[in-house]
Amino acid sequence: MTTTAIETGSGRAKRGVPRVPGAPLLELQDLVMHFATRGDGLLGRKTSKVQAVDGVSLTVREGESLGLVGESGCGKSTTAQLITRLLKPTSGKILYQGNDIARLNERALRPYRREIQLIFQDPYSSLNPRHTVGSIIGTALRTHNMTAKGKELARVQELLEVVGLNPEHYNRYPHEFSGGQRQRIGIARALAVQPKIIVADEPVSALDVSIQAQVMNLLEDLRKEFGIAFVFIAHDLGVVRHFCDRIAVMYLGRIAEIGNRDDIYGAPRHPYTQALLSAVPDLGTVRGTPPKARIRLVGDPPSPINPPSGCRFRTRCWKAAEVCAKEDPALTRRNSPQEVACHFAEAPEESIIADLRADA
Ligand SMILES: Nc1ncnc2c1ncn2[C@@H]1O[C@H](COP(=O)(O)OP(=O)(O)O)[C@@H](O)[C@H]1O
Ligand code: SF4
Ligand SMILES: [Mg+2]
Repeated sequence: MTTTAIETGSGRAKRGVPRVPGAPLLELQDLVMHFATRGDGLLGRKTSKVQAVDGVSLTVREGESLGLVGESGCGKSTTAQLITRLLKPTSGKILYQGNDIARLNERALRPYRREIQLIFQDPYSSLNPRHTVGSIIGTALRTHNMTAKGKELARVQELLEVVGLNPEHYNRYPHEFSGGQRQRIGIARALAVQPKIIVADEPVSALDVSIQAQVMNLLEDLRKEFGIAFVFIAHDLGVVRHFCDRIAVMYLGRIAEIGNRDDIYGAPRHPYTQALLSAVPDLGTVRGTPPKARIRLVGDPPSPINPPSGCRFRTRCWKAAEVCAKEDPALTRRNSPQEVACHFAEAPEESIIADLRADA
């Protein structure tokens, strides 16, 4: 793979989205997505709100990789679809290079659509089965006017090579490739338009473990070579450990803890992060604890239609106290380098050891 393979494909300089001086690449401010659903009221007419994303704020800097982690249903994919503006938020801001794209119409979104790309969990369902790989990637190139006339095939072949596929296979259909290869096609399609940020929604969750490592390595190479920023979504902390500079842990539509990788993995402060980490083989042993000790997370998260009052994690938290039901803990630094939404985010090791002893 060479830098020129991705950067020279178009042969023409792309004018990017303007940047507000000093603004980070991406900033979400108090982002909310509530879905209206039919509830159980009389004749099923009463509607209720699914609070899928409920006040998410975070920042992604140029070239940085942010891991977004949490159990199924906590709002990760909704966040991904908001960042890529496949969904329009109920409220809040999505600032890309300082420009709020939260309410832009499709026409105004066009330049942003090129710079912010999405890679899906299931590559098969995101690739049109009736189109060849060449046509799928070619469509992305044409939509954003990325190649000069007559250069499209050469560019498709370059991109296939960049993602480790045989450039001669441009005429094949998605079903002729394996799962890992199909994910590579999805990555090539995203790369075709020279994005500044890729939102990768559980891109390796559907793949065999051995293939997962290969795709992760490819993404890591691309990140290093082209300086692309990532929002990398995963449901456990094991997958994102090496790939991400920063980690945001999500629970029931909110951020529970966000900070640098070393702080999150080395000294997690939120009980939910501690439980997630404890569940990851090889990572679960906290310094000073017996090797097999684990924090067990019991039950499923509550429904986002009717989340608990105060702290949303309180129904599963072994530290919950009266204040947790009354006061929603703000996401803030609590004598810690990372930001934590917990009333009792004291020094990490002592608290975990105490919990484990109590558990024994
Ligand atoms: N279009 C929708 N309509 C109603 N509820 C939805 C819709 N999309 C997602 N949800 C709900 O929002 C919550 C968060 O979903 P999602 O963002 O897919 O979570 P995750 O990706 O973390 O598993 C879930 O309860 C899900 O059922
Ligand atoms: S605020 Fe209370 S319930 Fe929430 S995580 Fe902290 S201790 Fe647990
Ligand atoms: Mg999801």
